[in-house]
Amino acid sequence: MSDIGHLWWQHGVVYQIYPRSFQDTTGNGIGDLRGVTGRLSYLADVLGVDAIWLSPFFRSPMADFGYDVADYVDVDPIFGTLDDFDALVVEAHRLGLKVVIDWVPNHSSDRHDWFLESSSSRDNPKRDWYIWRPPGADGALPNNWVSLFGGPAWTFHEPTGEYYLHSFLSQQPDLNWRNPEVVDAMHDTVRFWMDRGVDGFRLDVIHMILKDPQLRDNPPSTSQPGWFAVEYDAFEHVHDKAHPDIHEQFRRLRSLVDDHDPSVERMLVGEIEPLPWAEWVEFYGAEGDGLHLPFNFRLIESSWDAGSIKGVVDELEAALPSFAWPNYVLGNHDQTRLASRVGDQQARAAAMLLLTLRGTPTLYYGDEIGMHQADIPPDRQQDPFGRRVPGEGRDGCRTPMQWDATPGAGFSTADASALWLPLAEDFAKRNVATQLDDPGSLLSLYRNLLRLRRAEPALNRGSYRPLDGPDGVFLFERLHETTELTVALNLGSVPVSVDLTGTVLANTNGDHRGKELDGTTELLPGEGFVVRVR
Ligand code: GLC
Repeated sequence: MSDIGHLWWQHGVVYQIYPRSFQDTTGNGIGDLRGVTGRLSYLADVLGVDAIWLSPFFRSPMADFGYDVADYVDVDPIFGTLDDFDALVVEAHRLGLKVVIDWVPNHSSDRHDWFLESSSSRDNPKRDWYIWRPPGADGALPNNWVSLFGGPAWTFHEPTGEYYLHSFLSQQPDLNWRNPEVVDAMHDTVRFWMDRGVDGFRLDVIHMILKDPQLRDNPPSTSQPGWFAVEYDAFEHVHDKAHPDIHEQFRRLRSLVDDHDPSVERMLVGEIEPLPWAEWVEFYGAEGDGLHLPFNFRLIESSWDAGSIKGVVDELEAALPSFAWPNYVLGNHDQTRLASRVGDQQARAAAMLLLTLRGTPTLYYGDEIGMHQADIPPDRQQDPFGRRVPGEGRDGCRTPMQWDATPGAGFSTADASALWLPLAEDFAKRNVATQLDDPGSLLSLYRNLLRLRRAEPALNRGSYRPLDGPDGVFLFERLHETTELTVALNLGSVPVSVDLTGTVLANTNGDHRGKELDGTTELLPGEGFVVRVR
């Protein structure tokens, strides 16, 4: 595709908002949609991103903070109303921002009407909308599948005498995507939001929607990445996710969003657990007729050193079919905060990495000011995963956005003790207001890089070429027509000299924009440059 890179979801930058934690307008200590709308000008004009992705705001009992949906086509009263959502979309579009929403197809809430019907009797017409199995001999579980949040993936339902499947919490029963009525009903929910003007969908654990039709046992594993509960990592997950039939569902979803209103360019980005590259690229579809983007979490998984990071980028570039567009992400609502994972110094290099690679960057709220993973006292813990599996809590990366140094950090007028999660300790020093006025702040660096990325086709759509750099430095070029830019990032822990020639377009430490470099340049740990060679 010669024009690859020209679509908004290719050259644009996506910003993830966790609505509970962005801006509270009611004083109840929980963020809401009106709050998001009020902050859109910060995102569009101050920061300079192109799209927002909103984590779930649908009706939900909040067992998994909205990833347990009780009504796919309504806003939870905690977050506001459908009118508030419509107003958000209008304002976002007025500011030139695209709106991507979360879609949670693998499971609903156990309070969804569909599940209430399905569980009401064995012969209810919606019985087969979920995955029910009778107990084995002596009440045995239907198979050895385990929930990602720990414990068996099956819960026995006394009134109807069968088990139902839940890949996550028991309050999140898995929908049966082999039932065409479920597929139709879920497609209707996509249409509903397209009609309300959304520009794309982030598809929650989309690789899980189709399992082995025979529900065979998973074999034990010898080595697993360790992202989930210990019991989950004890198995090879060959049967409880990513059945090959899934690709047909992706093709159907793709046509649904492509054909709905061909004048609107919409995007599907799927949450896919890290897989070997050859399997991962299949999610784009054999002909580019699958997902627009399967999320690429490899930079989160990778150890933070130049060799490993370069390895991820080069492997991805080599694995991608010509029609497929890359993407990168360094943080989200399930992962340890970037600045805590790599350290404050390297967070500057991380900003430059994310915004200079070839591919769509997704930026997690608060990472632009270097928010840290917060320590959550045991009595304030919220995340059900962390409450079930100590040490796995995700609350620390979901704390309220730090806007300013006022007692509620500009997030809320509620008392600190009434915020749904406590503020990170350093909020009075680390916030948008203090960083905005400081040209040396991380926020200023993000703003400069976002502007540069938008202005330079070499960065937002040009090709990528790795260069040989000294140990510790990731060195690469971005090329577009006659433009050639060099990016140099010291991802190590000691200063390194690099040969750099050209005009500085951006740099991480201080402001050397416009300066001519002519040869040896010393890069401190976490320091980086973008240089125009020609
Ligand atoms: C995804 C979400 C995570 C949620 C899970 C279950 O992994 O990112 O937050 O808990 O799905 O829906």
